[in-house]
Amino acid sequence: MVISVTNMTRAKIELGDVTPHNIKQLKQLNTVVFPVSYNEKFYKDVLEAGELAKLAYYNDIVVGAVCCRIDPNNGRRLYIMTLGCLSPYRRLGIGSTMVEHVLNYVEKDGNFDSVYLHVQLNNDGAIEFYKKFGFEIVETKEHYYKRIEPADAYVLEKNLRLKIK
Ligand SMILES: CC(C)(COP(=O)(O)OP(=O)(O)OC[C@H]1O[C@@H](n2cnc3c(N)ncnc32)[C@H](O)[C@@H]1OP(=O)(O)O)[C@@H](O)C(=O)NCCC(=O)NCCS
Repeated sequence: MVISVTNMTRAKIELGDVTPHNIKQLKQLNTVVFPVSYNEKFYKDVLEAGELAKLAYYNDIVVGAVCCRIDPNNGRRLYIMTLGCLSPYRRLGIGSTMVEHVLNYVEKDGNFDSVYLHVQLNNDGAIEFYKKFGFEIVETKEHYYKRIEPADAYVLEKNLRLKIK
């Protein structure tokens, strides 16, 4: 498809399914965006995840992805395993489109207590980003990561049972 100049100025952000045809793109993206590598089981589960795993397209190019799973422990919680965007495409609303998709999913379902994720302690940008959507730091996990520094992680959580003013 040819992208016209007019289209370039009015960028199009869309989310699409992860399928066996494009899962390689998801793997490449995650390898570039995250310091942690994910195993075959992760990608096998992602293929079954339906709305909980999405690729983000910016003018038809894959530039981001989100992968979540349902965590049945301590109430019904949705865990964001990965949510990331290639660095040249940040601050364009792509991350927001993905978080909004996740928040719409749990809202529509109506049975989730919270949405949570881990971030490296020094990931100020991601912490700011998530705070904007009502996530709060609820815990610090020491030595959470095995092969990266800092190894400690914050748990960021958005409680869905509280009304946000
Ligand atoms: C965190 C991340 C997903 C944000 O994606 P993004 O597409 O840049 O986010 P958006 O453009 O939707 O940003 C929305 C708002 O969040 C805030 N924000 C986003 N990145 C920020 C940063 N680096 N510093 C401060 N605030 C930030 C801003 O308020 C921004 O609005 P603005 O651009 O109008 O000021 C992206 O930086 C990323 O992929 N980081 C690496 C992966 C990662 O750390 N993921 C989090 C753990 S799963």
